[in-house]
Amino acid sequence: MNQPFIAPSLLAADFANLQKELDLINRSEADYLHFDVMDGLFVPNISFGFPLLETARKYCQKPLDVHLMIVQPERYLEAFAEGGASVIHVHYEACTHLHRTLTRIRELGCRAGVALNPHTPISGLEDVLEQIDVILIMSVNPGFGGQSFIPHTIQKVTKLKQLLTANRSAALIEIDGGVSEKNAQILLNAGADVLVAGNSVFRASDPLEAIRQLKNSSLPLVA
Ligand code: DX5
Ligand code: ZN
Repeated sequence: MNQPFIAPSLLAADFANLQKELDLINRSEADYLHFDVMDGLFVPNISFGFPLLETARKYCQKPLDVHLMIVQPERYLEAFAEGGASVIHVHYEACTHLHRTLTRIRELGCRAGVALNPHTPISGLEDVLEQIDVILIMSVNPGFGGQSFIPHTIQKVTKLKQLLTANRSAALIEIDGGVSEKNAQILLNAGADVLVAGNSVFRASDPLEAIRQLKNSSLPLVA
């Protein structure tokens, strides 16, 4: 099994020490910085937007993995692409014209991601698989960091992996919400490729070590 990609979520960072937090990510084995945008409509919370994106782009050397928890995300694709996003995830539930939106993300030079809420079946993606680079499975209800992982996610990942294999899709599977070293291995066994981790990284006593552990969670345990 390959090593997973690790995407620490900025939402859990200490904003009073933002540059220090971004420095830490730069020095870590993280592969992305996960950037959660919430609008208070699609989810019952408001997080941050363009001013912070500019700061993240300026001080963070890792690619930005932008997760749009907003209604009508198609209105902001250009702005996030210009702001330096490498991956843009839109929510399946927020897109009336998902095919068009995903196509546009790629046209803008970004990788196209689709996020699914816990109640959304994976079958809705069958007709747009060719337009998708990453599928983000929410393992909590979006809106807040620090929530408990929903165990049903594991079988959802297994089914999604089967769907991708059957369709010869190279799309990556990303998991977001309540991910830690406790469930990383089982998620990777099920087929996950990218692990988003907020609290389990930024609130750890040693965040660099927490990232290292997640990165190496696919390695066999020494007996
Ligand atoms: C939740 C966000 C997540 C969140 C994850 O709506 O999409 O990215 O930051 O945080 P943890 O890992 O603490 O659950
Ligand atoms: Zn997220």
